[in-house]
Amino acid sequence: MFSKNTYTNRRNQLKKMVKTGVVLIPGNEDAPMNYADNTYHFRQDSTFLYFFGIDLQGLAGIIDIDNDREVIFGDDYTLDDIVWMGPQPSLKDQAARVGISETKPYRELAKEIDAAIKQRRNIHFTPPYRGENIMKLADLLNIHHREVKNHASLELTKACIELRSIKEPCEIEEMERHMTVASKMHTTAMKMARPGISEQEITGTLEGISMSGGGIIAFPVICSVRGETLHNHYHGNILKEGDLLLVDAGSESPLHYATDHTRTTPVSGKLSDIQKQIYQTVLSANDQAREATKPGVSYRDVHLLACRVIASGLKDMGLMKGDIDEAVAAGAHALFMPHGLGHMIGLDVHDMENYDDTLVGYDEEIERSSQFGLAALRLGRRLKPGFTITNEPGIYFIPALIDNWKAEKKFTQFINYHKVESMKGFGGIRLEDDILVTETSARILGERIPVTVEEIEQIAGKGV
Ligand code: GLY
Repeated sequence: MFSKNTYTNRRNQLKKMVKTGVVLIPGNEDAPMNYADNTYHFRQDSTFLYFFGIDLQGLAGIIDIDNDREVIFGDDYTLDDIVWMGPQPSLKDQAARVGISETKPYRELAKEIDAAIKQRRNIHFTPPYRGENIMKLADLLNIHHREVKNHASLELTKACIELRSIKEPCEIEEMERHMTVASKMHTTAMKMARPGISEQEITGTLEGISMSGGGIIAFPVICSVRGETLHNHYHGNILKEGDLLLVDAGSESPLHYATDHTRTTPVSGKLSDIQKQIYQTVLSANDQAREATKPGVSYRDVHLLACRVIASGLKDMGLMKGDIDEAVAAGAHALFMPHGLGHMIGLDVHDMENYDDTLVGYDEEIERSSQFGLAALRLGRRLKPGFTITNEPGIYFIPALIDNWKAEKKFTQFINYHKVESMKGFGGIRLEDDILVTETSARILGERIPVTVEEIEQIAGKGV
């Protein structure tokens, strides 16, 4: 938990921004895995963590702006609970640690909300994403569960995005501290990557490192020799000579801040000539993108810069042709990089995406494109100091996409399909860092995980 003042200041800022009404923030519940008492690992709601900090089930918080009251609703553990779970701090003590003096039994929440509705006051909540909370809100607000999301407060959602986008020094410290765990995950995967080992064994080891380092994985591990499938969660392949192992994995810090990195390792220990050319192009896109990242610049422009570096490298290899600026403006490069350069990262790996990724990443000035490839860019707006974001360019050879575009004769002026055909089976290369936008530029959070050709070839397959 951060200091009491951190949470008090956040709530005070929120009150000033939302101005009137009742802010209702439900926490998460345990989610059953296969029967009620056998649950998934508990994960508190990020909005609740941000404003109320308590990492426990069965809670809800309200901020009554007009009456300047803040209340946490929840029930103290019973003796029976304590027999199974051990001694637990009281709700009053927990609430005091985040600067809240008023606590009430959970059943009182319905009365509180009912009274506010009768007074025709606005009840602000962010769009719920878990079934239990949708049902809770439907009951509290007396509306059909299918209607709940339509009643979410745009005002509150925008205020939360504004506050959470700028990371406070304590958040940056927490994220930076956890980068050592991220680094251990990725260097271990590199060292394990040799012929004969399974993707599953490496994946399991990475999950274990995350847990040993203080938290669950931040998202399902992507660990695959079929790296051209962007979110490949199949781990059934055995690594063999010549493969490229793409690992996109992250860990949650003890306070639930995510890491998210990608590295691509040659299973043979050395990159072949063509692998090296593609690798260097992706690394150059990553480096140039970071160098261009600074306050005031839009991340859409940084994305397009990375795309031009990629298209230019592919032209040098004879895979693309024609004018690079025109090719990128038309979206031809998206055959090879169909995703965005990056997204915000914080309490969520795609930070705040439960609110709405377009609201988080775009604004009135910079609207989301519908062009294939650019549409997948989750962060396009102008950057500000304190943003923590990912920088993750990649090049992929996706057989189904190549076949489709070739059959449709798409961008034949920019794509050399004959040569591209020969790359089917190559896989994919993505290189991803987590970066902080500073007052003047951007820097990598933590020490950079090995990424140059020399660095990765030095440890690839060397064993742990
Ligand atoms: N690292 C997974 C993602 O960004 O979607």
